[in-house]
Amino acid sequence: MTGKKGINSRALMIGLIAIVVVIGFALVSLSIGSSRVEAEEGPVNALANSKNDCVVCHDRTTPGIIQQYGHSTMAAADVTCEDCHEVERDYPGGIEHEGTYVLQSPTTAMCQSCHENEVNQYYASRHALPAYVAMVGAEVLDEDLMAMYQEVTEGQPDPDRARNAIYHLEGPAVTRFACEGCHNIGKPAEDGSVGECQQCHLRHEFSLEQVRKPETCSACHIGPDHPQFEIYQESPHGISYAVGSDDWNWDADPGTLTSEDFPAPTCATCHFSGFGGTATTHDSGDRLTWFLFMPVSERRPGYNENAGRMQQVCGECHNSDFIDDFYTDGDALVEAVNAWVLESREIIKPLQDNGLLTADPFDEPIDFVFFDLWHHWGRTAKFGGWMQGPDYTQWHGAYEVLRELAELKEMVHDKLEEAGIEP
Ligand code: HEC
Ligand code: HEC
Ligand code: HEC
Ligand code: HEC
Ligand code: HEC
Ligand code: HEC
Ligand code: HEC
Ligand code: HEC
Repeated sequence: MTGKKGINSRALMIGLIAIVVVIGFALVSLSIGSSRVEAEEGPVNALANSKNDCVVCHDRTTPGIIQQYGHSTMAAADVTCEDCHEVERDYPGGIEHEGTYVLQSPTTAMCQSCHENEVNQYYASRHALPAYVAMVGAEVLDEDLMAMYQEVTEGQPDPDRARNAIYHLEGPAVTRFACEGCHNIGKPAEDGSVGECQQCHLRHEFSLEQVRKPETCSACHIGPDHPQFEIYQESPHGISYAVGSDDWNWDADPGTLTSEDFPAPTCATCHFSGFGGTATTHDSGDRLTWFLFMPVSERRPGYNENAGRMQQVCGECHNSDFIDDFYTDGDALVEAVNAWVLESREIIKPLQDNGLLTADPFDEPIDFVFFDLWHHWGRTAKFGGWMQGPDYTQWHGAYEVLRELAELKEMVHDKLEEAGIEP
C-alpha cells in the first residue's frame, strides 16, 4: 500500500511539474509577444538617445519625468526642457541650477511664447483670474492684475462675499488643502502671468487623451455644490463614455473632431474641443448662456452667440428641433429655481429688517440653511437639468430646496416669536 501510494504521488508530482513548466512557457512567450506588440505600436520615446544635459542627468535623478516627457508630442516636435524651464538670471522665481537658471514650476508666460491663442482665450475665461478672485477676493490684486481681471467680460458679476468669508473663517492651514486645490487654477505667478495650465495638462505628458477625459475635470467639478462629474456619469453621454469609449479616437488632432471620433461627448467636447463646426477654445464660458453658479442666475453677455456655438456641438448628433426644445425647457428650469431662491430671500427679510441676524456670516444654523438652499441644491438642480442628470435635478436638487424653504420658514417664525414680533 505505502509503495503504491509513493509511486502514485511521484507520478502526480511529475505531472504537476510538467503542467507548471508548460504554463510557464506559455506565459513567458505570451509576455514576449505582448511586449513586442507594445514596442511596435506604443508611442516612441523621443528622448531615448538624447544628449541634452538636462535629459541625461534627469534620466538618473527623475526618470519618471523623462519617460513621461519622452512620449509627448512636444518632445517629438523638439520642444526641450529648457524651452519651459530655463530663464534669465533675474527672472522672477528663477533658481540657480547646474550652471543656469530654471523655474521650478514653469508659468503660463513660458507656454505663451508658443501658444499665444490658447493663453489669450484662457485669460478671457473664469478659469483664469476670476477663479482666484472667487476664493480670496479682488482686494489682493495689484493694479496690473486688476486691469486684467476687469477685461474678462464674463469675469463680472462680483463673487458672492459669503464664500470669501468661509475662506477667511477656515484659515490657511485648512484652505491650503481645500479651496486652493481647485481655485489656484487662476493663481497669478511671480512674473505677472496667470493660471496653472498643468491643472488640466498633467505634467509631463501633455496628452490629449488625458485632457479630453472627464476624470481630468472631476478633480474640481465634483461634490455637493458643483457635481458636474457625478451628473455626467449618470447622463446618457457619460454612460456611453463609461461603457464604450475604449475605441474612441482620443488622440485625433485638435480641431478635427467629429461624431465619428466621439459618438458621445465628454466635458471637453461640449466646453472646449473643436467639434463639427465649432472651433477649439480655452475660454470655458464661450458656449454658455446663463451664469448658473449665481444664486439668482442672470444671462451672460453675448449669450445668443454663445448658445450658437454650443448648439453646433449638439447639432453633430441631435436635430435642431430637439436642441431648441431642450434649450426652452432648460431656460424654464432656471427661471423656476430663480423663483425659489427669490422666495427664500423674502422669507428671511423680516429677520434682516428687524436686526435679528448676527452680523457675522456662518455663525448660526440659519446662515447655513439660507446658503445651502441656493449654493448646493439650487445650483445642483440647474446643473442636473442642463447636463442630463435627473437624480441631481430631483433628489439632490429641487427636493432639498423645498425641504429647506420649509425649514427656513419655521426658523424665521421661531426667531420672530422669540423676539416678541408678530410673525
Ligand atoms: C548634473 C545633473 C543635473 C543636470 C545637468 C540638471 N539637473 Fe535638474 N536637478 C538635478 C537634481 C539632482 C535635482 C534635485 C535637486 C534637489 O532635490 O534638491 C534637480 C532638480 C531640478 C528641478 C526642480 C527644482 C526644485 O527646486 O524643485 C528642475 C525644474 C530641474 N532640475 C530642471 C532642470 C533643467 C531644465 C535642466 C537643464 C537646463 C537640469 N535640470 C539640469 C540634477 C540635474
Ligand atoms: C511644456 C513645458 C515643459 C517641458 C518641456 C518640461 N517641463 Fe518640467 N515642468 C513643467 C511644468 C508645468 C511643471 C510643473 C510644476 C508644478 O506642478 O508645480 C514642471 C515640473 C518639473 C520638475 C519639478 C517636478 C517636481 O515634482 O518636483 C522637474 C524636476 C522638471 N519639471 C524637469 C523637467 C525636465 C528634466 C524636462 C525635460 C525632459 C522638463 N521638465 C520639460 C513644464 C515642462
Ligand atoms: C518652444 C515652444 C513651446 C513651448 C514653450 C510650449 N509648447 Fe506646447 N507645443 C509646442 C508644439 C510645437 C506643439 C505641437 C506638437 C505637435 O502637435 O506636433 C505643442 C503641443 C502642445 C499640446 C498638444 C499636445 C498634442 O498631443 O497635440 C499641449 C497640450 C501643449 N503643447 C501644452 C503646453 C503647455 C501647457 C506649455 C507650458 C507649460 C507648453 N505647451 C509650452 C510648442 C511649445
Ligand atoms: C473641489 C474643488 C473646489 C473647492 C475645494 C472649492 N471650490 Fe469654489 N468652485 C469650484 C468650481 C468647480 C466652481 C465652479 C462652479 C460653476 O461654475 O458652476 C466653484 C465656484 C466658486 C465660486 C463661484 C464663482 C464666483 O466667481 O462667484 C466661489 C465664490 C467659490 N467657488 C469660492 C470658494 C471658496 C471660498 C472655497 C473654499 C472655502 C472653495 N470655493 C472651494 C471648485 C472648488
Ligand atoms: C480646464 C482645463 C484646461 C486648462 C486649464 C488648460 N487646457 Fe489646454 N486643453 C484642454 C483641453 C480639454 C484640450 C483638448 C481640446 C480638444 O479636444 O481638441 C486642450 C488642448 C490644448 C492644446 C492643443 C490644442 C490646439 O488647438 O492645438 C494646447 C496647445 C493647450 N491646450 C495649451 C494650454 C495652455 C498653454 C494652457 C494654460 C494657459 C492650457 N492649455 C490650460 C484643457 C485645458
Ligand atoms: C483645478 C480645478 C479645475 C479643473 C481641473 C477644471 N476646472 Fe473648470 N472651473 C474651476 C473653477 C474654480 C471654476 C470657477 C471659476 C469661477 O467662476 O470663478 C471653474 C469653472 C468652469 C466652467 C464655468 C466657466 C464660466 O465661465 O462660468 C466650466 C464650463 C468649466 N469650469 C469646465 C471645465 C472642464 C470641461 C474641465 C476639464 C477639461 C475643467 N473645467 C477642469 C476649476 C477647475
Ligand atoms: C452634452 C454637452 C455637455 C457635457 C458632456 C458637459 N456639459 Fe457642462 N454644460 C453644458 C450646458 C449646455 C451647460 C449650460 C449652458 C448654458 O448656460 O447655456 C453646461 C454648464 C456647465 C457648467 C456651469 C457653468 C455656470 O454657469 O455655472 C459647468 C461648470 C460645466 N458645465 C462643467 C462641465 C463638466 C466638468 C463636465 C463633465 C464632467 C460637463 N460640463 C459636461 C453642456 C455639457
Ligand atoms: C457626439 C454626439 C453627441 C453630442 C455632441 C451631444 N449628444 Fe446628446 N446624446 C448623444 C447620445 C449617443 C445620446 C444617447 C442616445 C439615446 O438615449 O438613445 C444622447 C442623449 C441625449 C439626451 C437624452 C435624450 C433622451 O431621449 O433621453 C439629451 C437631453 C441630450 N443628449 C442633449 C444634448 C445636448 C443639449 C447636447 C449639446 C449641448 C448634446 N446632447 C450633445 C450624443 C451626443
